[in-house]
Amino acid sequence: MFKIAVLVSGSGTNLEAILNAIDEKRLNSSVNLVIADRECYGIERAKKRGIETHIFDRKTYRDELSKKIYEVVKNRADFIVLAGFLSILEGEILKEYKDRIINLHPSLLPKFGGKGMYGDNVHRAVLENKEKQTGCTVHFVDEGVDTGRIILQRIVSVDDEDNIDDIKKKVQTQEHIAIVEAIKSLEVAYEGAN
Ligand code: GAR
Repeated sequence: MFKIAVLVSGSGTNLEAILNAIDEKRLNSSVNLVIADRECYGIERAKKRGIETHIFDRKTYRDELSKKIYEVVKNRADFIVLAGFLSILEGEILKEYKDRIINLHPSLLPKFGGKGMYGDNVHRAVLENKEKQTGCTVHFVDEGVDTGRIILQRIVSVDDEDNIDDIKKKVQTQEHIAIVEAIKSLEVAYEGAN
C-alpha cells in the first residue's frame, strides 16, 4: 500500500479519478495529502473526502514553494502526483523523489510542452497548428518543464469542427484513465523493488 500526495491547482477532476480508482480497489494506494498552490476546487474535493489539505499560495511563497511542499510530503508520501498542478517544482524535492514524482500534461509531449503551456493554452495551440490528433502524457518530473521520461500517452482525434472545449473534454476523458494507469505502473515497479 503506497501513500500518495496529489498536487493540484484547478478543478481536481483527475484527483477525483484517482480517488475513485482507489475506492474501487483498482489502485493499491491511498491519497493522504492534497496540496495546492492556490485556492481551488481540487482542495474542496479532498476536504469532502476527509483528506489532509494544504494551500501554499504561489504568490506568497514564490521561490520557497517547492521547499514548503517538500516539508509536508517528506517521509509521508511514497509518490507525488501532479494532477493539474501549474507551478514548477525545483530543488531538493526533485532529487529526493526522483522517479517517484509524475506529472500529467494535456498534450502528446514533446509537442506543446514547456513554460506557459498548460490548460487551454495547449488546446489552442493544437487547434492553431491544425493537428489531426492530440492527447495526454504522464511523465516523470525532472529539472526541466515537461521534459521528464514519458510513462504513457493516450491519443484522441481532432476533428475539423472541434473547438477548444471539445478538445479539452476529449483529452480530459483520456487523462482520467491515463493518470490511474501511470500510478498503477509505479505501484508495480515499486512493489517489485521491495
Ligand atoms: C488537466 O487537463 C491537466 O492535464 C492540466 O490541467 C488540467 C487539470 O484538470 N495540466 C497542465 O496543463 C499542466 N501543464 P483537473 O484539475 O480537472 O484535474
